Amino acid sequence: MERVFSGAQPTGNLHLGNYLGAIRNWVELQKKYECIFCVVDMHAITVWQDPKELRSNIRELAASMIASGIDPENQVLFNQSQVSAHAELAWIFNCVARIGWMNRMTQFKEKAGKHRENASLGLYAYPSLMAADILAYKATHVPVGEDQKQHLELARDIALKFNTDYGVEGFFPQPEPLILGPATRVMSLRDGSKKMSKSDASDMARINMTDDADTLAKKIRKAKTDPEPLPSEAAGLEGRPEAKNLITIYAALTNSTVADVLTEHGGTQFSGFKQALTDVVVENLAPITEEMARLNADPAYIDSVLAKGAERANVIAQPILKEVKEIVGFLNS
Ligand code: AMP
Ligand code: TRP
Repeated sequence: MERVFSGAQPTGNLHLGNYLGAIRNWVELQKKYECIFCVVDMHAITVWQDPKELRSNIRELAASMIASGIDPENQVLFNQSQVSAHAELAWIFNCVARIGWMNRMTQFKEKAGKHRENASLGLYAYPSLMAADILAYKATHVPVGEDQKQHLELARDIALKFNTDYGVEGFFPQPEPLILGPATRVMSLRDGSKKMSKSDASDMARINMTDDADTLAKKIRKAKTDPEPLPSEAAGLEGRPEAKNLITIYAALTNSTVADVLTEHGGTQFSGFKQALTDVVVENLAPITEEMARLNADPAYIDSVLAKGAERANVIAQPILKEVKEIVGFLNS
């Protein structure tokens, strides 16, 4: 039995990295798999979120998934806090996972920064909740961007330790990461060594899914490049991270490869290529942005989709959680 689960945090500023690294792949996967897509609001509050903004970011993320082509009628789309199995299983996993495992998580180190003592306990336990998200449905495939690979490995470790500790071999599957497409790590437009991120202080570093055509054109025109023309082969991108990033984005959006893009544009200047890239980005994002605006104007519809999704998610997760509680030795309610 194959089942896909993935999630994204409702922390605003949804960008092209989220789209190419995650959401666009989800749209393809739903054609082949049973899919569960989750707006992970409980993960979001591991760092401070203004309640009013959080509420609107939850709806906006759900709207962007639907606008990108996620089908909420045939797949399950919901937000995490509406299905209590996530929190319940996460607690049990907190007691399975080891402190030493958490200490190795690079995302925690990055997010906690220098003031680790001051980070929330939730931020530390974040990967354990993520494992619960996936395993509450016994999901087998998890499409994510490259930055989530380490968390997926931890989820596999938790699944295996649970199965071993309680002597229930094969109870939880080993979920596999699906890191798909040419753009698994979209970089900042201002610094090719940093990933494109929701939290970058500079909005110019990021292509937001809500940017209009003029803003997109300006951001791409001002994107950092080097003075050399485009190379004709991929090897010529070595040591040129900004060039590589723009070409990779172009390849992903035109469903071609970096090699194809270089065959077509090799030897030309970046000014011309940036114009071509702008056209491609606008062509891809404009219909999604338009549909997002339409959906954002109808929060009641989004709320009803999420409520229905939560009901369906619950139907899958509850029997699994019940079994877990029995395995652990809790009394049946
Ligand atoms: P987040 O917004 O952090 O919840 O991430 C949602 C999804 O987008 C995850 O699957 C991430 O791996 C993916 N993602 C985030 N940033 C990037 C990026 N710069 N490039 C590719 N994928 C990304
Ligand atoms: N940690 C993921 C991110 O920041 C979001 C997430 C939470 C997730 N739970 C998940 C992704 C379960 C895949 C599966 O991108």
